[in-house]
Amino acid sequence: MRDETIRKHHDYLFPSVANYYKEPLVIDHGKGSYLFDSDGKKYLDFFGGILTVSVGHCNPKVTEKINEQVNKLQHTSTLYPNENIVNLAEKMAQITPGKLQKSFFTNSGTEADETAVFLAQHFTGHQELIALRHGYSGRSMLAMTLTAHSAWRHGGTHIAGIKHAVSPYCYRCPFGLEYPACDLKCARDIEELILTTTSGKIAGFLAEPIQGVGGFITPPKEYFEVAVPIIKKYGGVFICDEVQTGFGRTGNRMFGIEHWEVEPDIMTCAKGMANGVPIGATIARTDIADSFTGLTISTFGGNPVTMAAALATIQTIEEDNLAQNAHELGGYLRAGLENLQEKYPAIGDVRGMGLMQALEFVGENKTPDAALVGRLFEETKKEGVLIGKGGLYGNVVRISPPLNITKSEVDEFLRVMDAALARC
Ligand SMILES: Cc1ncc(COP(=O)(O)O)c(C=O)c1O
Repeated sequence: MRDETIRKHHDYLFPSVANYYKEPLVIDHGKGSYLFDSDGKKYLDFFGGILTVSVGHCNPKVTEKINEQVNKLQHTSTLYPNENIVNLAEKMAQITPGKLQKSFFTNSGTEADETAVFLAQHFTGHQELIALRHGYSGRSMLAMTLTAHSAWRHGGTHIAGIKHAVSPYCYRCPFGLEYPACDLKCARDIEELILTTTSGKIAGFLAEPIQGVGGFITPPKEYFEVAVPIIKKYGGVFICDEVQTGFGRTGNRMFGIEHWEVEPDIMTCAKGMANGVPIGATIARTDIADSFTGLTISTFGGNPVTMAAALATIQTIEEDNLAQNAHELGGYLRAGLENLQEKYPAIGDVRGMGLMQALEFVGENKTPDAALVGRLFEETKKEGVLIGKGGLYGNVVRISPPLNITKSEVDEFLRVMDAALARC
């Protein structure tokens, strides 16, 4: 079955649907923190389907609600209201920070960001937008233009008016400065970017609280406090992309941005919101959402089965205190990773928050070492552990297990990483 699956993948899928590992891993089923391949081999999943499996694979609390709903009513479109869509929208208004109140549901993070950017432009009457270098927004033409990784930007610049500010990437500070003596130059430079590359009137600023695909680049804590007022000064709104950082991932808070003293005007969510059922959500301040009076529709957005999955996922995160678990076990994991850093000089940086932790691998003078990451992938796979990759140079290991991971699973992960690193 494995060979046949790999052959069909090669023959019938776009080659751009790239797989991890020299011998791609054909996954058959999952349970909790584990995945099982077609030969029955067990893997501890420390990437969680790219930060999407929030409450463990096939969590019965979620799958029961999906099954119940799929047997009752699977699809109507948004032309008729249903109980699940309004309950999820109400829940989103309750759990998101500040004045975020009204939601629009879609099927992916890409669509959530598209909706947010359109809304910002429509509300402000301005067109230009500030995004961040090392950011990732998805695969539509707008999202690829927002994205600031050449590897994910295909076909040139599709959409005009998007300007990229430097990333708050302290390990590789674009100004060669050090925090805190830098006085947050990366954030302050946004003003000059606006004054020199735009008309001086912007629609908004789209940023991730921690840059996910960028390799879990974690900004200094005052970054958004400095950046967001500059955006407001020039007429823009703040679009916070919580596609990776949302729903307890960063520990102790439901959303990543809540760690810092700013409130988004629009927020986008996807991935971990429904534990793997396709979803996108854009939530905005009432005045911003209400400014969009024209017709729009997403056939599958707000699907009752998807909404049931999201409601059950959020309920599980709340009832099982998983944001707290992410904080506690994230701290425990972080301490273990820092121990590994002391032992292996190739680990140049350990960063992240909660259960969103990364290791940046380097050679001399911080030269990115993507080859080592490639070897580490093969070694950890042999030992039955799955990790994620990221960073502009592909030299960052992303670690993001389900939020209900246990201490002994973290210990198992650290033991395998140590043994694998020793062999790399
Ligand atoms: C921060 C961020 N925004 C948007 C997206 C796009 O989401 P999707 O792949 O669901 O379209 C991603 C996907 O990785 C992401 O990490």
